[in-house]
Amino acid sequence: MGDLLTGKKILVMGAANKRSIAWGCAQMMMEQGAQLIFTYQNERLKKGLHKLVADENALIECDVASDESLQTAFATIKDRFGKVDGIVHAIAFAPKDALGGDIMNARRQDFAIAQDISAYSLLAVAKYGQAILNNPASIVTLTYFGSERAVPNYNVMGVAKASLEAVVRYLARDMAKYGVRVNAISAGAVKTLAVTGIKGHSELLEMSEERTVDGQSVTTREIGGTCAFLMSDLATGVVGDTIYVDKGVHLV
Ligand SMILES: NC(=O)c1ccc[n+]([C@@H]2O[C@H](COP(=O)([O-])OP(=O)(O)OC[C@H]3O[C@@H](n4cnc5c(N)ncnc54)[C@H](O)[C@@H]3O)[C@@H](O)[C@H]2O)c1
Repeated sequence: MGDLLTGKKILVMGAANKRSIAWGCAQMMMEQGAQLIFTYQNERLKKGLHKLVADENALIECDVASDESLQTAFATIKDRFGKVDGIVHAIAFAPKDALGGDIMNARRQDFAIAQDISAYSLLAVAKYGQAILNNPASIVTLTYFGSERAVPNYNVMGVAKASLEAVVRYLARDMAKYGVRVNAISAGAVKTLAVTGIKGHSELLEMSEERTVDGQSVTTREIGGTCAFLMSDLATGVVGDTIYVDKGVHLV
């Protein structure tokens, strides 16, 4: 327990269940005193989140594929909670067919969906979220090393993550005048719902685990620790950056 985030209200987008990276972030931020608000994609995904968060008032539907849903969600958050001090964006999606095999076989529409949900959505969250962000505030998103290297089967998601990291840099530049810092965490591979959509995900997880400095996968709480730091006033100098939290996998 600590008080790094005491007095801060933070919106967490993308916690589907207890394995979600967003939930690891939520746990670590709660332990540092933050008050949290959560969004869920749809009614089906609400169930998993509701098991973790009893307060119905703090759960708000938001499908980032829809501008209307984003607008409604942020208006609801403003009504219920007023302004917030941070947003965690832990959202990505690509159709299963585009997460395996040779990348040249990826369909145009699948490529577009991956970009829309996994990269554009951060812009949309920043745009609609601006009205509820305090000055200062912090936005943190989640990326993966497949943005930089051709990781087997990651394919269109790797391209979307490269796009997301560029979005972070441009957003960081343009939101600085509103006192909003924007950064990404490049997390090591962990077994979540999103990962099981990738063909050969077991091999990906094994390969990643073997390459960590101690042979143990990074945990969602370890990722969450860096998220808590980026949300805190200790990180005021960190802007537009991508920080690895992968126990050294990117080094080897
Ligand atoms: N698991 C890993 O190994 C790993 C590694 C690095 C980065 N990441 C990234 O971390 C983030 C969180 O993923 P995770 O691994 O915790 O998996 P997860 O399945 O627990 O979370 C993904 C979330 O995205 C949400 N989502 C998808 N489409 C959406 C939409 N249209 N509107 C609103 N929400 C939507 C899902 O509802 C879910 O809550 C993703 O950006 C992912 O790419 C994951």
